[in-house]
Amino acid sequence: MGGKDAAGSDTYTSANPARLDEAVARVGLADAGTFAAACRTAKDAQREWAKVPAPVRGRVIASIGRLVEANAESLAALVTEEIGKPYAEALGEVREIVDTCDFFLGEGRRLYGQTVPSEMPDKNLFTFRNPVGVATVITAGNFPVAVPSWYLVPALLCGNAVVWKPAEYAAASAHAMYRLFAAAGLPDGVLNVVFADGAQTFEGLERALTESTVDKIGFTGSSEVGRKIGELAGRHLQSPCLELGGKNPMVIMPDADLDLAVEGALFAGFGTAGQRCTSLGTAIVHESVHQDFTDRFVRALKAARVGDPREDVLAGPLLDRKFADRYEEYLTWIQPHHRVVSGPTGRITEDNPRDGFTGEGGLYYHPVVVDGVRPDDRIFLEETFGPIVGVTTFSTMAEAVELANRPGYGLSSSIYTTNPKHAFAFREGVSAGMVSINNSTSGAEAHLPFGGNGKSGNGSRQSGMWVLDQFTRWQSMNWDHSGRLQKAQMDVAEITPDHGFRL
Ligand code: UN1
Repeated sequence: MGGKDAAGSDTYTSANPARLDEAVARVGLADAGTFAAACRTAKDAQREWAKVPAPVRGRVIASIGRLVEANAESLAALVTEEIGKPYAEALGEVREIVDTCDFFLGEGRRLYGQTVPSEMPDKNLFTFRNPVGVATVITAGNFPVAVPSWYLVPALLCGNAVVWKPAEYAAASAHAMYRLFAAAGLPDGVLNVVFADGAQTFEGLERALTESTVDKIGFTGSSEVGRKIGELAGRHLQSPCLELGGKNPMVIMPDADLDLAVEGALFAGFGTAGQRCTSLGTAIVHESVHQDFTDRFVRALKAARVGDPREDVLAGPLLDRKFADRYEEYLTWIQPHHRVVSGPTGRITEDNPRDGFTGEGGLYYHPVVVDGVRPDDRIFLEETFGPIVGVTTFSTMAEAVELANRPGYGLSSSIYTTNPKHAFAFREGVSAGMVSINNSTSGAEAHLPFGGNGKSGNGSRQSGMWVLDQFTRWQSMNWDHSGRLQKAQMDVAEITPDHGFRL
């Protein structure tokens, strides 16, 4: 922090999930006191950073983008090594940082306020966007560099300082990202990275909030932790930016192009080994095409490659042991009334093999499709982070929308249809913050509002111009140059209409 390393009390080893005996990074874990100290450092640095003109801050963002672009291959390779994301996807993830920088470098020359007419003469009204102060950003490791950039880039551009707590199982990727940001010339203390476990982070955050050294919390992770962070922030009268879990539905209408739908479901369900917050949860398929869709889906899945993420595969290993353990728990939610139509389940091993598998050891799991899912099943109602997709059926559009909304999340959603009426009816009815028509539930572009409703978040939105409202506060100013006290609502000229007038 403040450009210096601080010693940690415990250490954590981040391992390669494709070859578990390979350590990718070893980091010291900070305690709550160190976390709170980082927030104080950020608070001091922020005052000067806010004085740097926004277009100059925009140039720093431009440099970050160029540095990330120039280091794209090595950063992507590190992401692949550390969390097992297939290399092509990791490159896409790095591209998302560059896109974010490209968007916000220009925002440095906009960051518009408004001039607004006054109700009185010789008076002018203005609005300004002020930085919030210090943003604490806590991120997951499934997108160890792109999702953090959605917070860091706009927060810094707007004149805030940041304390970033990355996922410890993605420590090497986070550290590389920090070094790229620092190389762009960010002054010491403006961006601080703290590795810490959940409990110490929470306690450190609580202390910092009490000391008024945190003004905004950004959190990407589970709905369960998001709820705790929301409660803590609420006690300090803050509204955090929460990007939480999803149980993202994909509706397949009888008029859908089924091959296209299968391609979309395959990527949405099993790309990133199903570990995106936007990954497909349940395919909600019209009963008339259910059999046909499921057969084609299973065929495509069997032909897909799972294995070494450095190769051209649909899915690599799970992120980390913690996630693998949790995924095994989700598999126990499969009930006797379900039909596992994809083949074997569980860890891929010599005794439980998969055709065409190219990995060696590692946290590799069979991708699973569960048919016959019912609306009261746990597997239907709760997020199952990992390579598992449920299939259920519907008969009317109203029923499809009801099923899509039933789990109470509301991040992403998708519909496959060739009928615009269905597309718009779905958009209107679905509670999700994001809707895809004839595309995957995942893979949002970096300049549209990203965020969810219900259990997926508190309505905050990231990305594009919408995220500016997270990292700035509107300040209004009125300037009276009449030379007398003009009272609003009282000293206002009136023009008298003839309300009785009729033609
Ligand atoms: C996440 O999993 O937290 O829309 C974010 C997508 C990606 C981001 C996912 N651009 O799938």
